[in-house]
Amino acid sequence: MIVIAVDGPSAAGKGTISLMLAKHFNFGYLDTGTLYRSVAYLMLEKKLDPSNPEKAEKTALSLQKTNLYDLNSNPNIRLENVSKAASLVSAIPQVRKALLNVQKNFAQNPYFPNGKAAKGAVLDGRDIGKYVCPDAQVKLFITAETKIRAERRYKELLSKGFSVIYNNVLADMEERDLRDKSRAANPMCPAEDALIIDTSDMDISTVFAKALAFAESRIELPFKA
Ligand code: DC
Repeated sequence: MIVIAVDGPSAAGKGTISLMLAKHFNFGYLDTGTLYRSVAYLMLEKKLDPSNPEKAEKTALSLQKTNLYDLNSNPNIRLENVSKAASLVSAIPQVRKALLNVQKNFAQNPYFPNGKAAKGAVLDGRDIGKYVCPDAQVKLFITAETKIRAERRYKELLSKGFSVIYNNVLADMEERDLRDKSRAANPMCPAEDALIIDTSDMDISTVFAKALAFAESRIELPFKA
């Protein structure tokens, strides 16, 4: 199975690049952040404390039989309060363990939204190349300066009709980045064999060209897109 692991902080462009790679190679795609977001969302809905390890683990285990693309179709998982709670649940080792199985299963048996099997998988997240799929043939780490990422997220939220203050978006992003990087369980960190792409001064087509050239150099022939 061919696996492309794409890691990096939020609003660096990894989701867009992952989707473009999945489309190019006709692979299944898993945005692993939706798993942590869905755990957080389900807990908030039931008025559970997202930092309660037992309840969070139970909620994470409940995702094991879901079609993972369905999780992405719930727009509420993108709300700010869910983002904050997702950052909390993602620091709980039991949650990471429960979701590790879900992610590994997808990487080993990837599928498309209609359930049909795919020949490869693109997974994006924070710890895919280092912990979830250490044997992935292609590992990318997509990053950008914090202020630039905050500006992108701010514009995205404005365009969706949310009334937001730039400084708050920046402060939230700094807080979450710090938690992602410093947590004890699988902190965000590029794998040694990952290509690091800083997208601060690049447009998306330039980033994609670099990512694709790297992927093509790593994916073993005779596979062809
Ligand atoms: O990429 P995102 O913003 O949708 O991720 C939501 C949260 O989940 C974020 O706090 C980071 C965390 N996460 C993680 O810890 N590991 C992953 N593989 C993916 C996301």
